[in-house]
Amino acid sequence: MRHDHPTAVLRPQEQDSPGSATAVAHPNIALIKYWGKRDERLILPVTDSLSMTLDVFPTTTSVRLAAGAGPDEVTLNGRPAEGEAGRRITAFLDLVRQSAGRTERAVVDTRNTVPTGAGLASSASGFAALAVAAAAAYGLDLDATALSRLARRGSGSASRSLFGGFAVWHAGPEHGTDADADAGSYAEPVPTAALDPALVIAVVNAGPKPVSSREAMRRTVDTSPLYRPWAASSKDDLVEMRAALGRGDLTAVGEIAERNALGMHATMLAARPAVRYLSPATVTVLDRVLQLRQAGIAAYATMDAGPNVKVLCPRADAQRVADAVRDAAPDSTVLVAGPGPGARLSDEDGR
Ligand code: DP6
Repeated sequence: MRHDHPTAVLRPQEQDSPGSATAVAHPNIALIKYWGKRDERLILPVTDSLSMTLDVFPTTTSVRLAAGAGPDEVTLNGRPAEGEAGRRITAFLDLVRQSAGRTERAVVDTRNTVPTGAGLASSASGFAALAVAAAAAYGLDLDATALSRLARRGSGSASRSLFGGFAVWHAGPEHGTDADADAGSYAEPVPTAALDPALVIAVVNAGPKPVSSREAMRRTVDTSPLYRPWAASSKDDLVEMRAALGRGDLTAVGEIAERNALGMHATMLAARPAVRYLSPATVTVLDRVLQLRQAGIAAYATMDAGPNVKVLCPRADAQRVADAVRDAAPDSTVLVAGPGPGARLSDEDGR
């Protein structure tokens, strides 16, 4: 057993001035999904989830403390953050200020390289980078576990982007105080045998989603008769997934990931009203993945809160899989990702 990507490296390569810090984080794709909260305020999930952090689409975020009264200044991809996105970032900064016992407002600049809101987990890389940068800027000395717990409060999936490679996010204890539950819900790296995976990402539609994942999750938990059965089977999937990763069995990893994702989408389809993220292009790609398997390639699909498809396969087959997916969905953008690093402090250019 070994950790391909050990815990996050949190040392700054170059220290910004006191009260300012820059961090980089990559998105992660869940192979065992997080879908459903048991506590909305603390962002505590119903089930454990497990993901692979990617080596593409990093988010770079800098946080600088500013003198004087007034609101935080948040710039998202060069524009002032508005509406829900701005509110979530300010609420997160309030939490950091409260933990640090500080009151200064912050100037935040965040740059995503992934289309925001397209089901490619920009909130995961976004809040992981913000957690690392804001904690450093406000002088909070947190280890990777504590940063994961903090990132979770911004967006659940962000807890996993603190770590490179494969990470599991523990739901935490169901009973006990809020403090116990909060303390027990964090991500950590998953030990794996040697694996050489690739994730072929087909961006079939980079537009914003019809229903936010937050709202869709809530609706599914509240109204879908399939939700509880999926959550129960997801627990078994996680046990099998850990075993498959431990023995380096990428075919089993793919099989479990695909059934877990399709099950999650089934819960949404049964919600009232239904949430359907999968588009005709999604289904076309899924058909092609099936054909690849019939041709002997261990390719398996997973989808999140959007129509895009991510195909897990051995790295040696990635180009063939990417070509097949491009051929099936010519209007999509296809790229090949691999396992990437955990969130870390960096210099201002995001290096
Ligand atoms: C489908 O982490 O974006 O990608 O905690 O409400 O911010 P919030 O949700 P978010 O949900 C991600 C859901 C998912 C599955 C996953 O990443 O595990």
